[in-house]
Formats: sequence, structure tokens, C-alpha cells
Amino acid sequence: MARIIAGIGSSHVPAIGAAIDNGKTEEPYWKRIFSGFEKSQAWMRETKPDVAIVVYNDHASAFSVEMIPTFALGCAAEFPPADEGWGPRPVPVVKGYPSLASHIAQSVILDEFDLTICNKMEVDHGMTVPMNLLFGKVDKNAHWPCPVIPLAVNVVMYPPPTGHRCYMLGKAIRKAVESYPEDLNVVIFGTGGLSHQISGPRAGLINSKWDKAFLDNLSKDPQKLAKVPHVDYMREAGAEGIEMVMWLVMRGALDDKVDEVYRFYTVPASNTAVGHIILANRPRTAKPAGGYKHAAKHKPAAKHKRAAARAKPALIRSR
Ligand SMILES: [Fe+2]
Repeated sequence: MARIIAGIGSSHVPAIGAAIDNGKTEEPYWKRIFSGFEKSQAWMRETKPDVAIVVYNDHASAFSVEMIPTFALGCAAEFPPADEGWGPRPVPVVKGYPSLASHIAQSVILDEFDLTICNKMEVDHGMTVPMNLLFGKVDKNAHWPCPVIPLAVNVVMYPPPTGHRCYMLGKAIRKAVESYPEDLNVVIFGTGGLSHQISGPRAGLINSKWDKAFLDNLSKDPQKLAKVPHVDYMREAGAEGIEMVMWLVMRGALDDKVDEVYRFYTVPASNTAVGHIILANRPRTAKPAGGYKHAAKHKPAAKHKRAAARAKPALIRSR
């Protein structure tokens, strides 16, 4: 049986790809960002997933304003890097996993999520930048460490899918993966964001408070996060902050309770806040971390806290 073992959230800032491609990763401005992914790359080398599902958005590379699927699943054998205006990035062609991708398409569509099936698709920085951040720089003539199934989500033209729809799609993807007979360890990426706005009077907007709360809720209370409406993303995280709903596909594919393996946040990269998180499902055959006593330990504490709150009058903060 295939299984999803972990989810990875990562920004996909195009300038990060340009820094890699132009040999600028050791420059102080960029080193601050790349050093935040060193532990993640070590984790990835150790984890050695068999397949990665990368949820990202196309930036008018494979699609255009003439045709934008809400969800598009890459079922091809390979996905060449797209020319985004200055030639394709010097990264290897992404090898797909057509049999698993087709299985996911069948399972998810029969579960009433109407994906567009792409048997030919180029992929842009939305996908290849997070792959570089997690797998490191890979020579154009070499191979990415594992096959990848791309899932493109429309967040460029209104209306994008809701956070809740993305979250539920993640659950459907998990069900699909777990009904695939091959023994595979799968990781799923949610990419994009965090807060940023590229144009208009609020260009340059970054909201670290919002971003950090998003990461906290992604880890501990994704159902609350799934209820956040589009307008809140737009208002708090900027027009392009809506990319963050894609992280909810990743989160929906994980257990309700996960272990946060790693988190990194820095401002800025280009005009964007960079966020990154690794969340791991707990092995099903093992006891939860710390044993079952762990959960029991928290119940009295929460109960005690509520009782204490009831017993005390509300505090009025002095100014
Ligand atoms: Fe983007």
C-alpha cells in the first residue's frame, strides 16, 4: 500500500530560482534564505520519498487567461521546465509517475472532485523552486531524486477554490494514495505565499503576524484554517497571499494530528515573506510520541485551565 508520510509547505518565490540559477546562493541576502532549508534538505535525503506530489500554481506558463483549470493533475511521464520569458530554468525535466497519477485521478474524480487531467504540461517556478529548496540544486543533465506528480491549482484568476475545498481535496488525495497497491512512501508539497502583494497601492505588503498564525494553525488547527474566507487572505496577506490555500491541500492529506518536524520563516525574499514547514504523520504501528500518557496528561491540564478561568473574574488590562 502507498502512504503519505509527510507534508511540506514552501514558498515558491521566482527570485529564489534565479538566485540558484545565477550562482548567488552564497551572497548574504540569499544565504539567509537558503540556510533555512539546509536542515530540510538533510531531512529529505534521509527520508528518501518514493514519490512527491507537488501542489503549486501555474503562472501563465502551461495555461493562460484563455483557459484556467481549477485543479489540474499531471498524469504525463515527464514535465519539461517552462520558458517563463528568459528561457527554461536549467533544471532537469521532471519525471512523473503516470500509473499513480492516473489512479489518483480516477479515485478523486469518482469522489466528485473534478480534476482536469494533463497528459502534456510544462511546469514553472511554482513547482521547480520548492523542489530546489528541498532537494538542492540539481544539474540540468542529472535527475531529480524522485518522480513527481504535479497538481496545479488556480489562484491567479477569480474565483480560486476555497481553503475548505483545498483541504477536502487533500483528504481525497490521501484516500487515493492509500488505495494504490504499490508500496510507496509519498510526500506532498503545498507551495506558494506567504503574504505578499505584487502590484497596486499595497504592493510590498508583508504581514508576519498573519503568516505565523497561519503556520501555527496549519500545524495544530487546520480545520479552523480551512474556514478562512478568501477576503481575509486578500485583506491580511495581500492579493497574492491567496496562494496559501494550496498549503491546505497538503494539510488535508495528513493526519489530524501531526508532528511538526521543522519550520522556517524569514522576510523578505524579493517582495515576499518566505515560509516553510515540514509536518510528519505519526507511524501508525507505533505509539504516539511520548506514549499514550501524553494525551491523558493534557486533558486534566485543559480541564484545570477552564475551571480556573471560571473561578477568576476576567482581567482588565491596565494601560
Ligand atoms: Fe506564485
